Amino acid sequence: MSPRHKSIETKHMQERAQFFSALKSLDRRSFLKVSAAAFGAAAASGLVTPHAFQPVKVYAQGAGGKQEPFSFAYISDSHLYKRTLNDRFINALMRAVDDVNAMDPQPDFVFYGGDLAQLGQPEELELGAQILKNLKAPLRVMVGEHDWYYDMGEKWRALFGEPTYSFDHKGVHFVVLNSVVEKDFWTARGLSAMDRMKTVAGLDNGVQSPFSVGAEQRTWLENDLKGKPATTPLVVFSHSPLYKLYRNWNFWTDDAEEVQAILRRFRQVCVFHGHTHQMLTNRIGNIHFQGFLSTAWPWPYAPQGLPELTVQMARPDPFNPNDGCGDGAITVHPDGLADIVHNLWNRNPVTILRTYTASNGKKDKPEAPLRRSY
Ligand SMILES: [Fe+2]
Ligand SMILES: [Fe+2]
Repeated sequence: MSPRHKSIETKHMQERAQFFSALKSLDRRSFLKVSAAAFGAAAASGLVTPHAFQPVKVYAQGAGGKQEPFSFAYISDSHLYKRTLNDRFINALMRAVDDVNAMDPQPDFVFYGGDLAQLGQPEELELGAQILKNLKAPLRVMVGEHDWYYDMGEKWRALFGEPTYSFDHKGVHFVVLNSVVEKDFWTARGLSAMDRMKTVAGLDNGVQSPFSVGAEQRTWLENDLKGKPATTPLVVFSHSPLYKLYRNWNFWTDDAEEVQAILRRFRQVCVFHGHTHQMLTNRIGNIHFQGFLSTAWPWPYAPQGLPELTVQMARPDPFNPNDGCGDGAITVHPDGLADIVHNLWNRNPVTILRTYTASNGKKDKPEAPLRRSY
């Protein structure tokens, strides 16, 4: 066959080979080249919206206080496979990095919400770290179950440090938890590292234990918050939702009530989580919960129903692998509550203002999608 008449398959494999050879030496300059090429290919096939992510800042009134609001971006749940197995999710993470790098002004930092890897392989985590290095803004990272259960966090720790930590930024106290702690289901069954990882990754196989934060981290949290006044603006990052939504998929934190009890004395608390790969809003007393979008795929909504305040995503187009995926930005106000902008890659961005959860859904309700998601 003439080389001018390459099959689509051959063309795809050649482009893929070029893509991966360019990925090998990924400094800032070659990142732009590789990501632009990937973006170009997607744009040519009509798969992307032409604009970069430019969230509109909307400041609701009544913030008070001396401090200014500030923004950080989020990227979550990229589920990278080894480069020889899948390039789509790699492209998607690069697209998210491009999105965030295009923000003007730049966010104060970028928070990565966990599940960087798919099967906890060192190569997957290294690839993710290499791509995330191209962010212009400083990066903070949280662990997800897909990052952890192959080597019990050894590689993740080597790349990103300890999974439980806190930091202060412009008057806000941020806490990062490892909320995917599981009881040992593997030793008695004699499971290999890979079998343990695949069991956890399976979510609904019934063998693994529910996620929890665990007694050790709860004590750490109590100590971390000790002495802080109840008016401290507090943001908690947790990979699992930090409430009980659907046990079968581990949209669940087994000791959620105990963790919530530690947070109860604060006037208002924001919890941001990954793992559920969908727009998910909830409020329990003083705690306002928001889920992150994934860059890899959207999960369907859990079958038993949704928290009342959840603003549903539109049903994703099954023929478009990037629909229902995205990244986003969060503006934290001096009162400790936050506006979240979900940058859905194939839809209009959706903004959920803090006044919406603060008023228990009475004010500023975002527009419902045309067709509700599954
Ligand atoms: Fe995930
Ligand atoms: Fe997860």
